[in-house]
Amino acid sequence: MTQSHSGISKAVIPAAGLGTRFLPATKATPKEMLPVVDKPAIQYVVEEAVTAGLSDVLMVTGRNKRPLEDHFDRNYELESALGRKGDAERLARVQESSDLATMHYVRQGDPRGLGHAVLCAAPHVGDQPFAVLLGDDLIDPRDPLLSRMIEIQGQYGGSVIALMEVDPAQIHMYGSAAVEPTAEGDVVRVTGLVEKPEPADAPSNYAIIGRYVLDPAVFEILRKTEPGRGGEIQLTDALQHLAEDEKVGGPVHGVVFKGRRYDTGDRGDYLRAIVRLACEREDLGPEFRTWLRSYVTEEMQAP
Ligand code: G1P
Repeated sequence: MTQSHSGISKAVIPAAGLGTRFLPATKATPKEMLPVVDKPAIQYVVEEAVTAGLSDVLMVTGRNKRPLEDHFDRNYELESALGRKGDAERLARVQESSDLATMHYVRQGDPRGLGHAVLCAAPHVGDQPFAVLLGDDLIDPRDPLLSRMIEIQGQYGGSVIALMEVDPAQIHMYGSAAVEPTAEGDVVRVTGLVEKPEPADAPSNYAIIGRYVLDPAVFEILRKTEPGRGGEIQLTDALQHLAEDEKVGGPVHGVVFKGRRYDTGDRGDYLRAIVRLACEREDLGPEFRTWLRSYVTEEMQAP
């Protein structure tokens, strides 16, 4: 595990969403618990925070999210059953998620948007910069992003968001950023932000992907932020204030990510994430790749 040298130690993971895109799978199971190969999607996100040195994790949950708490807790019955069988390998896998981080939970109550979810973290976070990781965005563990964002926050202060260039036709699904270059190739200065704009109104095709390192000044702004897009309190709108007025906790910089990112809230991307990560697994990969190759060959020959 690497340690964050920045003094940033807290990660906030909003996880109160309903997961309607995955119904009926998410009728009685939180979307965050859907497996990506053999781990729930949310475990990758917690592992990412821990790898970046953030071992204090606050999850903002809601109704029907108990399985999340159970997953990151001990399961003594299962552990002793596996222990009795002498199945050390599976026992280690079960214990992995409860040993990962110091977990905290707060419930959002009314689902009033991402900005509101982040505001629920204010009492826990206090007055230090902190990270926010959205559970739907899975960043490939081999392409570190958060540690670079923390480094940039240490350099410039203020807040740092993760950006990715997307097809302009897709920008309406994201927050879009107006940017200016800096001396560093992968870092831009953010001068404006719009949540889910129509393509014609988008300041650029730089999309916010779900990683943020935020100055705690964002809480004060969120308290005053009126509902925006979709009638929800938008984190993007609060960040727009920070970008606009440096005196209240700005500036805002963006780290431009060029690595592998999957939107596990989208069914197609979810499938792609599973195939990619399974192919690269040492235990499953060799056999799965062989099968995949012959399957693709068959598909190509089909009329
Ligand atoms: C949220 C943010 C949006 C961002 C996106 C990234 O939207 O509001 O600015 O681009 O996450 O995944 P959501 O997808 O939760 O509607």
